Amino acid sequence: MRNMTETELTETVLERYSSTPDPRLRGLLASLITHLHAVVRETRPTEAEWMAAVEFLTATGQKCDAERQEMILLSDNLGISALVNLVAEEVPDGATETTVLGPFFVEGAPDRDWGESIALRRSDKDETLVIHGRVVGLDQEPIPDAALEVWQTDTNGMYDIQDPEQPKNNLRGRYHSNYRGQYRIDTIRPTKYPIPTDGPVGDLLRLTNRHPWRPGHVHAMVFAVKESLIKEFHLNEDDSDARTLGVDSPFRELWHDFVLTKA
Ligand code: BEZ
Ligand code: FE
Repeated sequence: MRNMTETELTETVLERYSSTPDPRLRGLLASLITHLHAVVRETRPTEAEWMAAVEFLTATGQKCDAERQEMILLSDNLGISALVNLVAEEVPDGATETTVLGPFFVEGAPDRDWGESIALRRSDKDETLVIHGRVVGLDQEPIPDAALEVWQTDTNGMYDIQDPEQPKNNLRGRYHSNYRGQYRIDTIRPTKYPIPTDGPVGDLLRLTNRHPWRPGHVHAMVFAVKESLIKEFHLNEDDSDARTLGVDSPFRELWHDFVLTKA
């Protein structure tokens, strides 16, 4: 019996999965097998290179725990998360764009009251930042009681879950819009920070001459970069504005409306 050709082998494997009852799973597997086999035929890895790839993925999985998500970090760094976001989210014109969740979201952030700051510790160089605006539908009708889940790094560049020195839930919280759809987030001006480089994704960055820095940002999940989500944290030096908001002057400010579409 002669050996199978490269394409016959792919066809044989596809055939073995062709009775998968769930049509979506059947389609996903067929596409995955077809594309992965094509990558192997095109790049012709040696056995040692394939083992290195297996070890890289194994190490990526092993780096994960309840608070470290190296798999999401890898997906983010290969652009997969952004592509999934692009193909999965059809955002109509006028609605706020969405972006990747990132690896640092944690469920169960505490509720925060109007005017309550998510910055549970402050240093002298931290600048107050107030982000406010409305949550509205495409028709500009206010959406009351929308949950706004927010998280960001401290000025040392670390999220609370990366840094045992920070109080739990520092710079995280869930705000709610009021009966007029208005919301207010009290925090500190975010700084740029490096993604963790002590795992396999860090090795990948080094091997590919890429830097680990993310620009300063606040994550908001109302239901993180797209051009339209880049905003200026304007320096507000108006003492009466500071008095009205009950914050120290001067402070940073962002007015931003979230425009939601119906599920
Ligand atoms: C973040 O902003 O938390 C993040 C997003 C993608 C990759 C790494 C970090
Ligand atoms: Fe982030």
